Amino acid sequence: MDKKVAELLNEQVNKELYSAYLYLDMANFYSSKGLDGFANWYEIQAKEEQDHALLIYKYLHNNSQTVTLGAIGKPDKEYKELADPLKAAYEHEQYVTGLINTIYAAAQAVSDYRTVQFLDWFVKEQGEEEKNSSDLITKMELFGGDAKGLYMLNSELAGRAYSAPSLQI
Ligand SMILES: [Fe+2]
Ligand SMILES: [Fe+2]
Repeated sequence: MDKKVAELLNEQVNKELYSAYLYLDMANFYSSKGLDGFANWYEIQAKEEQDHALLIYKYLHNNSQTVTLGAIGKPDKEYKELADPLKAAYEHEQYVTGLINTIYAAAQAVSDYRTVQFLDWFVKEQGEEEKNSSDLITKMELFGGDAKGLYMLNSELAGRAYSAPSLQI
């Protein structure tokens, strides 16, 4: 595997684990506000990000690459309003889409089509991640303005169940 592509994938393992940590911190915020449904949503989001990290980790090992695990950064966002994590999540997913696109372009540049194919799943996943996080902002704006609406929204998000990623390695 090309050295640069391997390096970027290795960095992405760390970024996905950071994403998990960031989402756990959002769950943490909502738990402390008594919004257990919102907390559930982000706990599951955190699990999914751990899955992403593990998929890339395994892909590197399956391709005889050495993986180096670095320190995971402290979640550094401050939340005041109830909608703040929702906005931060959308921004974060847009940032991650950029990271995936950068690795994709690097793999394409060296004709590493195996990695390109592997990353196709992540490209699609980022489309879903951006849509889901953007939809949540819209729902909050529409229904989160009064106590009853917030209660309903919290109940809806409490119903999210974890499912393993559709990509298996
Ligand atoms: Fe991810
Ligand atoms: Fe994500």
